Amino acid sequence: MPFQDTTPKRQEWNFPLNKINPPKINPLKIHPPRDSYQRKIDYLRVSVTDRCNLRCYYCMPEEGMPMVTHNDIMRFEEIELLIRSAISIGFTKVRITGGEPLVRRGIVDLIGKINEIDGLNDLSLTTNGVLLEELAVDLKKSGINRINISLDTLKRERFKEITRIDSFDRVLKGIDAALSVGMSPVKINVVLIKGVNDDEVMDFVEMTREQHFSVRFIEFMPASQTGDWNDQKVISSSALIAKIEEKYPLTIVEEKLGAGPSVNYRVKGFKGTIGFITPVTSHFCEECNRIRVTADGKIRSCLFSDNESYILPLLREGKDIVEIGDFILKSLETKPKCHDINGVKFRSCQRSMSKIGG
Ligand code: 5AD
Ligand code: SF4
Repeated sequence: MPFQDTTPKRQEWNFPLNKINPPKINPLKIHPPRDSYQRKIDYLRVSVTDRCNLRCYYCMPEEGMPMVTHNDIMRFEEIELLIRSAISIGFTKVRITGGEPLVRRGIVDLIGKINEIDGLNDLSLTTNGVLLEELAVDLKKSGINRINISLDTLKRERFKEITRIDSFDRVLKGIDAALSVGMSPVKINVVLIKGVNDDEVMDFVEMTREQHFSVRFIEFMPASQTGDWNDQKVISSSALIAKIEEKYPLTIVEEKLGAGPSVNYRVKGFKGTIGFITPVTSHFCEECNRIRVTADGKIRSCLFSDNESYILPLLREGKDIVEIGDFILKSLETKPKCHDINGVKFRSCQRSMSKIGG
């Protein structure tokens, strides 16, 4: 049966909180805010849980990790207040991440509420896709169009080896569901690791022939406690582009495909695009526009810095939107100019991606 978009029109939704408590915009503050290096910061990535239904070997040990206790996790009202406050100081883009955000009960309702906040231009979600088949229709109704799905292999057995869970078919069905409910863009994030999945590059490129996917190859980063990273396992995007071009000449796609740092190409005649994200070989710190908030309510102004500003107490103690907005602005001052992955002093961050939100 063809998918019918039954998404209610915006005005049919009624979330009273919005009306009681509209975001206060302080016209004296610069919109969007800037950090100490004059970068515009308008993109907030919010992790709603540190739990995950996969166990990717480069992210988590097999037995899982100690989880943040229920009481220390941001509640939905707190997440909403956090986002309203960020928007009041000029943030316009929000991405919901995890762990795996779809394992959090009530996530669809939360997303619906966030989507109603005035001033938010761009709401997106990063997921591993395992629960997407069940939730795609409702997610679309609650406002998700932009979705990133992590998928490192197109081989069922290998998926099981990488993620330690046999959910490959569910993820494929999840991707189909995202497409059939009309989400757009659907981006497939592939972390390429030498000797693990680099033999599948062409298969991923082929995926863009008939479908309007954006496949994005992400360089493997030193961001976990599992200690599996070393620079020999990183495949630089420039080497990758050269390899792809042996078979498929690429043309650059000029228009920006989102808030992210990927550089995008297309194979002539293919419907989708191929993106390259190069945190390791050519850091994009100069253009960084984001901060992250962990599920336990800590602002991380840089993925690679363990400098955290603990915002949860303010959200819990009844501070208002102006005070919380000021706290977020203050946290921007801790944003470093650049990470130093390739430098001698670089230290992998103390949290894995499941505890930061990718
Ligand atoms: N390097 C690159 N990407 C990573 N992710 C998790 N750990 C790493 C790493 N060390 C990715 C996941 C997912 C996103 C949330 O973060 O594969 O795409
Ligand atoms: Fe894998 Fe992401 Fe879950 Fe980590 S958080 S185990 S990378 S799916």
